[in-house]
Amino acid sequence: MDDTSSNIPPAWAADVLGDVVISAEVLNARVRELGAAIAADYADDPPLLVGVLKGAMMFMTDLARATELAVDMDFMAVSSYGSATQSSGIVRIVKDLEADLTGRHVLVVEDIVDSGLTLNYLRKYLLARSPKSVEVCALLLKEGEQRVSLDLRYVGFTIPPTFVVGYGLDVAEKYRNLSGIFTYVGPGSH
Ligand code: IMP
Repeated sequence: MDDTSSNIPPAWAADVLGDVVISAEVLNARVRELGAAIAADYADDPPLLVGVLKGAMMFMTDLARATELAVDMDFMAVSSYGSATQSSGIVRIVKDLEADLTGRHVLVVEDIVDSGLTLNYLRKYLLARSPKSVEVCALLLKEGEQRVSLDLRYVGFTIPPTFVVGYGLDVAEKYRNLSGIFTYVGPGSH
């Protein structure tokens, strides 16, 4: 594989993908930087990483390995009421945490922040469990789409407000297993 190979959509998904937004190589390098920043910031008191399923699964596992600290890991699954492409801000907890948050630093690991409503809800939910702190590490932030003010401690990339898939992000549960992040244009667009 040459170093531009992940810029090209793979044959099994090429008919629905547009341009590459972030290649696997660029993702990898940025995730390593984020891991190093987290390791430096939390050196004295390693956080509990809370991955938000399913979108953050790839990011969570890579970020945890890039963070050279004895972090704990736990997962939540949430589903947002509303249409498929528009978050309503009302979130249902599909899988709750197992960890006790009392007195712990919590770092929420999110795939993408769009309106910010999901994250806003999650932050309040976690803060009610008496943690020492709640911070957020979001891989992607969609430019200009936020409907609430957000305080994101770590952001991987700011991207234009288009629908993207890959590296955990899906459309109807597909394309999560792409190594890079691509715009989704749908069938019949090529
Ligand atoms: P928010 O509540 O509007 O910030 O929505 C955040 C959630 O919507 C993310 O955790 C994703 O699950 C989903 N989402 C938003 N934009 C995209 C996208 O471009 N591709 C895939 N999922 C997305």
